[in-house]
Amino acid sequence: MRKMTKKEQDQARRLEWFRKARFGMFIHWGLYSQIGRHEWVQQIELWPRKKYEPLADTWHPQPGCQRDWAKLAKQAGCRYMVMTTKHHEGFCLFNTETTDYCAPKRGPGRDLVAEYIEAVREQGLKVGTYYSLMDWHHPDGMRCKADEKARRRFVDYIHEQVRELMTNYGKIDILWYDVPHPLDAEGWESAKLNKMVRKLQPDIVINNRSRLPEDFGTPEGRIVPEENRMWEACMTTNDSWGYAPIDPHWKTSWDACNMLREVAAGGGNLLLNLGPSPEGKLPREGVKMFTEVGQWMKKYGPTVYDATDAIPHGHLWGFTGRFTIDGSTLYYHFSRWPGTEAIIAGIANKVLSVKFYKGKKIKFEQTPTQLILSGLPEKMPDPLGTVVEIQVQGKPRQTGTYTTVPQPAALSK
Ligand code: GLC
Repeated sequence: MRKMTKKEQDQARRLEWFRKARFGMFIHWGLYSQIGRHEWVQQIELWPRKKYEPLADTWHPQPGCQRDWAKLAKQAGCRYMVMTTKHHEGFCLFNTETTDYCAPKRGPGRDLVAEYIEAVREQGLKVGTYYSLMDWHHPDGMRCKADEKARRRFVDYIHEQVRELMTNYGKIDILWYDVPHPLDAEGWESAKLNKMVRKLQPDIVINNRSRLPEDFGTPEGRIVPEENRMWEACMTTNDSWGYAPIDPHWKTSWDACNMLREVAAGGGNLLLNLGPSPEGKLPREGVKMFTEVGQWMKKYGPTVYDATDAIPHGHLWGFTGRFTIDGSTLYYHFSRWPGTEAIIAGIANKVLSVKFYKGKKIKFEQTPTQLILSGLPEKMPDPLGTVVEIQVQGKPRQTGTYTTVPQPAALSK
């Protein structure tokens, strides 16, 4: 294997905790929460500036609400949180010298980012700050594309806000940029920006949305592993990132556990979103989901956090579940239960033993292509997902699928 460069070594060091973090809570909170119809409402419904900006003065969040979020995140098994410090609407939840359009100087009257960070640290979780580069409020926010003077002003404004965020709150663990429209990396001066960030926060991990790859990829709304690189899927729990009490379309706790299985099997993380009400209350459906996921994670956490996919992803999957791997232990995460007999394909090693995770032994038979489990209960023991622990001889290897590699002789008979 090729030796890692100094830069790669540095990145590996920074990413060490993040690779095992697996699960984070995403929070979208801003002026739009008062309208309750998606965080893009200003654009979707074409709100005139005159009508939208007064929302800065009518926003009065309850003090202490961030504590409830952080407690729930901790109970759910999250290891980090990421909160919007400024979404596309341009309203800063932090204290800034650059504009009056910020929480301490308007309705909230407090630094909501400071409160959030304190609450997250209290729970021993890592702190992530989301920051939208695109800005609908700043007069140069769109003009910057065609007007160099406007770009200069706007980019200075953005760099200064990021500098404030990276300076005024102690250690920040994740910088989560969003939407680099309308400039390219050169226009944003992203390389210079991120160099400054790393100087101020040497251990920080930075996502890929300043138009530079940086430390991790951010597939959105879908779980697609990225090859040879750390990645984190960000997912909504209904159809909006911001508070939307009119949306009945909630994912279930089973869906959430399924997302966790999938990211774990692909060696990535899940950043699962909740949109608090303007007061800071979390939606009932979301609290239920994170609570139930937490109960499930209490039992199965080690098969999710510590087991990484040692085999290139893509093959070891099935309709009934996903594999995670820890040394010579394979965990098969059943998401759908086949009944009293189960067939698991893809294991090339000799299987030594099979049992329920933290539970009873399971009878098995291994053929050249299949592992057949028998004597199973009719129904899935844990409805959110049941994990079976499979000890194999040596480092887990996979057999092929029909389309990728030559078939084991037994298949063609
Ligand atoms: C997007 C959306 C946004 C949301 C984000 C989360 O790009 O513009 O509203 O904050 O994705 O990943």
